[in-house]
Amino acid sequence: MPSPLRILVTRRIPEAGLSLLKKKRGLVLDIYEGDGAIPRKELLKRVKTADILLSLLTDRIDAEVMDAAPHLQMIANYAVGFDNIDLVAAAKRDIAVTNTPAPEVFETVAEHAIALIFGLAHRIVESDTFTRAGKYHGWGPQMLLGNDVAGKTLGIIGGGAIGSALAKRMHDGFDVHIVYHDIKRNSLLETAYDATYMTLPRLLKESDFVSLHVPLLPSTRHLISTAELKLMKKTALLINTSRGPVVNEKALTRALAKGTIGGAGLDVYECEPLIDCDPTDTLELRKLPNVILTPHTASATHEARDAMSVCAAKNILAYISGKRPENMVH
Ligand code: GLV
Ligand code: GLV
Repeated sequence: MPSPLRILVTRRIPEAGLSLLKKKRGLVLDIYEGDGAIPRKELLKRVKTADILLSLLTDRIDAEVMDAAPHLQMIANYAVGFDNIDLVAAAKRDIAVTNTPAPEVFETVAEHAIALIFGLAHRIVESDTFTRAGKYHGWGPQMLLGNDVAGKTLGIIGGGAIGSALAKRMHDGFDVHIVYHDIKRNSLLETAYDATYMTLPRLLKESDFVSLHVPLLPSTRHLISTAELKLMKKTALLINTSRGPVVNEKALTRALAKGTIGGAGLDVYECEPLIDCDPTDTLELRKLPNVILTPHTASATHEARDAMSVCAAKNILAYISGKRPENMVH
């Protein structure tokens, strides 16, 4: 290992992990302090001298970046997802790649999905808008009626750690029946939370709420599109806290406007940070009343972001001490 080792941190992350790195001798941190994501040019420039890159999900780390970084040995992504990194290019160059699947993050994202489900079912955002607009002139027996969550069926697509954290909370806490779909079965889900394994079409037909917890892969891009939305109940709610392109957003927007499904709670967008890919399209997600939109904040709690920061730092510390980091993605 050359000494000192230079770590390029593409944006300031919580101190919890940075302080672990600062304590370690022989490490130099180069933290990009600009507003927003590091501009591509700046990334290509600064990565030249980096031995390790601590990247964010907003940074596209492809062959061009790797080729601009002759010393690069490791990419420690500050995210659970790693679709922003070209893993094939990294493997070819023998660059290690890690992510931050801290247990706190699973809980946090599951809580956010739950918040979106309840927010939609109880029409919290619509009711808030209504109240602020001065439209509340007295209690009404049929005013702003929503739907109970208890007793309903939640379809979880992707029965991994986040899907399981959601299943646990909805099953144990809210008397919700769990069904799930994945490329492989998860016996813990089935035994601990009475989850029923289903094909995707059957899950879509039977669920009152459908929540997506798959990584973005070629096989999951547009997993939910026009045909899938048509299978869903007219009252069904679609929740996406995974990655935007898992859903064909144009198809979803049309389905929401036409009443093909009941509503959507979205934390991620197909052309993020754009909310609608096509700015000339007059049908906009933002104008629909039956959606709740959050700005990719499903993991944005102090607990989760601190845990991610510590996790990224520990992966780096393991790597430089010659151990295999806990969260290698390849
Ligand atoms: C957030 O989207 C993450 O992947 O951590
Ligand atoms: C559907 O509402 C169910 O409880 O199965």
